[in-house]
Amino acid sequence: MSLNKLFERFFFLGIIPFRGYFQRFFLVLASLTPLIWYFPENWRMFGDIGWMLLIFILAIRPVSAVFPKIGLLRSLVPFRKETGILCAALALSHGAGFYISNQFPIVSSFFDFTFWTFNDNQGYAHLAGLTAIVLLITSNRWSQILLKRNWKKLQKLAYVFFLTAGLHVALIGDDMAETFIQMGFVVGFWFLAHYKIVLWKR
Ligand code: HEM
Repeated sequence: MSLNKLFERFFFLGIIPFRGYFQRFFLVLASLTPLIWYFPENWRMFGDIGWMLLIFILAIRPVSAVFPKIGLLRSLVPFRKETGILCAALALSHGAGFYISNQFPIVSSFFDFTFWTFNDNQGYAHLAGLTAIVLLITSNRWSQILLKRNWKKLQKLAYVFFLTAGLHVALIGDDMAETFIQMGFVVGFWFLAHYKIVLWKR
């Protein structure tokens, strides 16, 4: 098959080879995140990757609706579940890595209200951590069956996760403008998709 044909299959038709394997690979990566215990100095990197994945998860559906001609975007939408699990696992390991590096006990520090301050980034970090725990625990079929219609409602917590994690990252202050641009990108595409604005038709 020519290179042109391969590109067309991948980019426009959205045929991703070994898609199922990639999805399972994300779950394997998520199950490995507790290894932060042995490498706690990497906690910042875990937070950075978690944040990037969160932008991807929330942006991919509206972006694919705005660019329906790019089949690859549509094919990436089903990756949200596994990416979400990896994102929450990375974010929680990031928080745990921070405690471990500073020799704070993990569970009691998480519920220590001196960390729940909303005049800086810390309260938002902990609120985002709490939503990540709920999303992670309920990200399986068993919870879906048990919670029935409420499961879909609970998934809306992803928006709380986005807002609180975004405020946490923005208020650190290193790159506040960059973080707001990233959040604006997601909100901008939600807006375009909501009003069915299509920029590149099939
Ligand atoms: C479990 C709760 C969390 C705790 C305890 C926590 C803690 C922290 C701390 C202490 C910092 C450094 C702040 C500073 O330099 O002033 C930080 C940075 C950061 N956090 Fe979190 N965080 C949590 C949740 C999250 C979540 C949910 C995300 C995103 C999904 C996230 C993403 C980041 C990012 C991107 C940075 C900047 C890292 C860098 O400097 O490269 N954090 N976090």
